[in-house]
Amino acid sequence: MRILLISLMLSLAGCESIAVMSTPKKNPAISNTALSARAESHFWKGLHKGDYASISETETLLTAAYLENPNDPRLSGYLGFLHIWKITERNRLQPIPSTIVNEIILAKKYFKDANELNPSDERIQGFLADSMLVEGQIFNDQREEVRGYFAIQRAIHHWPQFNYFTGGYVMSTLPYDSDRFKEGMEWQWKTLDLCAGTKIDRHHPDFSPYIYRETQTGPNRACWNSWIAPHNFEGFFLNMGDMLVKQGYTETAVTIYKNAHLSKRYNSWPYRSLLEKRIQDAEKNVSSFRQTKFISKDKTILFNSGYGCVVCHQTFH
Ligand code: HEC
Repeated sequence: MRILLISLMLSLAGCESIAVMSTPKKNPAISNTALSARAESHFWKGLHKGDYASISETETLLTAAYLENPNDPRLSGYLGFLHIWKITERNRLQPIPSTIVNEIILAKKYFKDANELNPSDERIQGFLADSMLVEGQIFNDQREEVRGYFAIQRAIHHWPQFNYFTGGYVMSTLPYDSDRFKEGMEWQWKTLDLCAGTKIDRHHPDFSPYIYRETQTGPNRACWNSWIAPHNFEGFFLNMGDMLVKQGYTETAVTIYKNAHLSKRYNSWPYRSLLEKRIQDAEKNVSSFRQTKFISKDKTILFNSGYGCVVCHQTFH
């Protein structure tokens, strides 16, 4: 009887996978409607202004545009980014509604669509992996966390200059003495090595000898500022300094923070006061950065500060 049941289950499972495999996948199709153009420009304006309050209107526009054409990988990608922006910068809200966790479910869904429609976008691979990891953490689903962790490894393999940062950044929230935090820290160093084209001296990580390598093309563009991420360079060093402070290496952290000064656009960076305060308070911040609850934007690690996305993406005030 039991054998019969097992073979029946196996053949049903076989049936399902054959049926799924013989059904066509979602195919990509780029939209060119007025609605999709409006939704896209709204998204970029909001992100470049760091305008958290614009998220809900952008969400309405992007969702409507994606329903008009549920095969557009760009629209589903932007929806993923919008929802992950909303949850990442949740500490701007007072109080934070419990429903904020739904944003990670939505982010994962739209990144999954975007990844199916355009599997070659390594940025989507990295953010999908992060969403899996965070969703697993929030809902105590350890298997999802493990799947997310392996997805990060694959994304890193495809575009290390971008995904070592993306993967390690979410891990900055973990306890400073955990293996995962240490690995996330190691990934920031690896990003620097790749960006410098050589192994950086970890005791004196001054980045000025490598400034000449700035580029807008190829995989190394993820090391520098661009139209998409106008203050990526400054934001990268701010996070890396925060992770080092959290570990207790304040002296190295200050050298890392100061690398942000090398940016040609440093003086127009909306978050330079955040960095300057961190340079002054490095010692004091060790214990506050180790706390999990939000204290303030100056006393909480970048990822949970309320400005964890716009620190790199905002240009206008
Ligand atoms: C350390 C800086 C940094 C942080 C922090 C950061 N990003 Fe980015 N982001 C980048 C870089 C670099 C790129 C890649 C640019 C490229 O493709 O040339 C990028 C790409 C993007 C894109 C472009 C995708 C596309 O299809 O063109 C979006 C949207 C985006 N990030 C949103 C976010 C959101 C939302 C967060 C917060 C969860 C975030 N970023 C955090 C640096 C950052």
